[in-house]
Amino acid sequence: MDNFVALFLIISSLFTTSVIADWNILKQRWSRNGVGDSLKNYCESWRMNVEVSNIRGFSVVPQECVGHVKKYMTSTQYKADSKRAAEEIKLYFSGCCTLKGDGKDAWIFDIDETLLSTIPYYNKHGFGGEKLNSTSFEAWIKESTAPALDHTLEIFHEIKNRGFKIFLISSRRETLRSATVDNLIKVGYHGWSNLMLRALDDELMEVKKYQSKMRQRLVDEGYRIWGIVGDQWSSFEGLPSAKRAFKLPNSMYHIA
Ligand SMILES: *[C@@H]1O[C@H](CO)[C@@H](O)[C@H](O)[C@H]1NC(C)=O
Repeated sequence: MDNFVALFLIISSLFTTSVIADWNILKQRWSRNGVGDSLKNYCESWRMNVEVSNIRGFSVVPQECVGHVKKYMTSTQYKADSKRAAEEIKLYFSGCCTLKGDGKDAWIFDIDETLLSTIPYYNKHGFGGEKLNSTSFEAWIKESTAPALDHTLEIFHEIKNRGFKIFLISSRRETLRSATVDNLIKVGYHGWSNLMLRALDDELMEVKKYQSKMRQRLVDEGYRIWGIVGDQWSSFEGLPSAKRAFKLPNSMYHIA
């Protein structure tokens, strides 16, 4: 019996030491540069660098930061950040543009994490810490239960009422069209000019290229693109560009 207890103590102390050691390595690496010393600092810095597109192409949120990302995406800070973005958008469209009134003044919105929130899905699937399962994600989309982002909903209607034509460009697939339309209408969006989804051909293409192609199509049809609101850099990068782009926060996933 004594032997058993001793063994147990040895094993449990080994386990604790190795967990602490991992964290100490991270901490040392981090504080050697004289910047902060907590996991919170580390994860907030990760999050911020994702937002400004210094960190790209991650397929999952680093495991040690999943809790931090979840906390942020469900916080009043996330709401405040989205609200501030909406205020800046309002400031811009109130004075930016001399609309010609020929029906060719355009504004573009993304869908996920821009008009609609997929947080209820990610809340059940590891908050960006698990690789996206597109089968279960699309099954969730088909339920059409995504809530609106309130601040985007408000500016969506203000932009429309100013006379801009609204285009929705999303990397959602064409097969999700009716579920997407149902969902958008259910939470209060209506009156857009076109909803552009990824056709079979476009699925082979990088999202960034697909987004550019859709903007080119609008420009070829004579539209002037005054603004884009999106949560992914791949919605803004490449040509043709809009006069201004507004990035909404999203550190749960990255679309290249
Ligand atoms: C993805 O989700 C589907 C539906 O929930 C499930 O059947 C499948 O096993 C999942 N795939 C992986 C790789 O987890």
